[in-house]
Amino acid sequence: MSNIYSGTEENIQKAAAVIKRGGLVAFPTETVYGLGANVYNEAAVAAIFAAKERPRFDPLISHIAEVDFLPQYAAVDARAMELAKHFWPGPLTLVLNRIEENPCLDLACSGLRTLTVRMPAHPLALSLIKASGVPIVAPSANKYQSVSPTTAQHVADGLGDKVDMILDGGACQVGVESTIIDLTGRQVVLLRAGGTAKEDIEAFLGEKITVPETVPALPTAPGQMLRHYAPKNVLRINVTAPEPDEFYIGFGKYDGALNLSPTGDVKEAASRLFAYLRLADEKAIGGKIAVAPVPNVGLGLAINDRLNRASYHK
Ligand code: TXA
Ligand code: MG
Repeated sequence: MSNIYSGTEENIQKAAAVIKRGGLVAFPTETVYGLGANVYNEAAVAAIFAAKERPRFDPLISHIAEVDFLPQYAAVDARAMELAKHFWPGPLTLVLNRIEENPCLDLACSGLRTLTVRMPAHPLALSLIKASGVPIVAPSANKYQSVSPTTAQHVADGLGDKVDMILDGGACQVGVESTIIDLTGRQVVLLRAGGTAKEDIEAFLGEKITVPETVPALPTAPGQMLRHYAPKNVLRINVTAPEPDEFYIGFGKYDGALNLSPTGDVKEAASRLFAYLRLADEKAIGGKIAVAPVPNVGLGLAINDRLNRASYHK
């Protein structure tokens, strides 16, 4: 029996009841599908890691439904509030300091002094959070290290009945995870390139944001680990002339069996990236995938980050 449910009002109420009583609900966001739990229920938060088969606890993003709730939940200054007002709802995640009033978030925060928050831009996600009445922590709804899901079926393929309900909101429009920035220091630091272009954040702030050396030896975010978002097959990137036995994913003028964006639009490419990596995994007969170069502008930064990790081999 399928545990995929359409996004009717009745199903949203049902899903909210599951969240409230400590169950797991996968739900759509504009970036990727999330595997959600009540942030205040430690057993439910722990169940997320078990379902994902993540080997250790990692801090999770809290999803909230209103900008005005943020100051009650985390320590904010004017800069954080302005960023939230401007970019939310949307694919921007803020790392903020915790406040004393919220002591029971230890597992969700993985013991860190920081709290990570975003307001997703998907009507189903917002309805679910509101109906649940609590922030919902949600990592991407995939098994550890595998490709993030951008459809309800991807979630079902990867997690099956480990999740109580999967709410179906169609294919995710952005297609790569949110951009994560750390606001706890004076300088804004980019922790993960994602669905909000770094250039747009810089234009809004009127200053450059700090991009740490790529691939730190000791990642603060597991999304920064070397091998992540990985397909099963061998993956080569920045390929303009694929070998005959490679399944070629094109971009722009470099055309292949699939093309991330024939017109060279990085936004379109981001929205298709994970679905095409999955398709290529099914179709690459020789066990090899090659991907055309994607320019490092706008969402191209996030695309190249994911492709770099997906292609990493020890
Ligand atoms: O688009 C998204 O952000 C999706 C959707 C579902 O909202 N969520 C997502 O969550 O990608 P997840 O858990 O797969 O990735 C969140 C990343 C993890 O690598 C985590 O370690 C990092 O954010 N992270 C969370 N809190 C952090 C913190 N306080 N400091 C540093 N990294 C943090
Ligand atoms: Mg993930």
